[in-house]
Amino acid sequence: MLHLDLISTLKDVFGRFANVRPSHAKGIFVTGSFTPTDEAKQLSAAPHFDSPSTPVIARFSLFTGIPDLPSTDPQANPHGFAVRFLIGDDVKTDIICQSSTLFPASTGETTLAVFRALRDNTVEEYIKNHPEAAAFLLEDRKTPKNFGTQSFYSINAFKFVNAAGKSVFIRYRWIPLSGRQFLTQSELEAKEPNFLFNELPGVFAQGPINFKLVAQVAEDDDITNDCTKIWPEDRKLVELGELSLTRVADKEELPPQKQTIVYSVVPGVQGIEPSDDPIIAARAAVYGTSGQTRRDAEAEA
Ligand code: HEM
Repeated sequence: MLHLDLISTLKDVFGRFANVRPSHAKGIFVTGSFTPTDEAKQLSAAPHFDSPSTPVIARFSLFTGIPDLPSTDPQANPHGFAVRFLIGDDVKTDIICQSSTLFPASTGETTLAVFRALRDNTVEEYIKNHPEAAAFLLEDRKTPKNFGTQSFYSINAFKFVNAAGKSVFIRYRWIPLSGRQFLTQSELEAKEPNFLFNELPGVFAQGPINFKLVAQVAEDDDITNDCTKIWPEDRKLVELGELSLTRVADKEELPPQKQTIVYSVVPGVQGIEPSDDPIIAARAAVYGTSGQTRRDAEAEA
């Protein structure tokens, strides 16, 4: 089955580790709150756009399924940023983003082909036959000063529906209020291997990490079911709100999070729906199974 093949091939590429995410294995939980703009609720009837403030538990992560990957390793990019909005006891919704605007495939099947090329060391050959994968696979990515000095992108499109039933397709962006700041090669070389994690409490000691949540709104002819097709930069950008992250968190600490956190790509609240992008369904199956495996391992431990 596709989702099992995707998980197993990621483990072929990065290694088999118990109770670890097969992708974005190394990460850190942080907490804070989200405050929406008035414009947000005109686009979507989602509850966190209609509440003065919503607590969040978020996780910054490095790419790869290697749990002790150094922050200084080129493979650590793109970084991940998963945000859970804790709307009510049983109501929550997540936004999962990464620090690149690019993805190498438009379906679960072609994502599997990319993972196999990585496993078999045939990336060069793969790119010749699949030019749409080249930009992601060859992207030269910089390492940020800290997790909060870079933008993050949802890659996949989602459908916003407002209270009047009007809908638009959007892609999310988190824009750092500090501005985007990256290390030079010599600054990176001077850093210790775990610097992004070890320095984070010190970053918070200086003040919160703040992001603007922005929706890039598609026009009628924009492609919503192929995440390798980036929408033109002149598309309307609507500010949805501001996220203020205040400290590193223990994942057990927030009341609704008694279980291992498994972020979901399916919004699961009114006002936000998946688009017809097939990667969303593939990810939903993968994250559900991978998360359940981690929960089972934790229960046994
Ligand atoms: C078919 C395509 C994809 C596959 C097969 C895949 C696979 C995975 C897997 C297996 C996990 C671990 C899940 C868990 O155990 O909880 C994961 C987590 C993650 N993925 Fe993907 N992924 C895909 C697409 C994407 C895309 C498009 C993005 C960027 C928007 C992304 C960003 C992330 C992030 C940030 C995490 C970590 C979430 C956390 O902190 O718990 N993935 N992915």
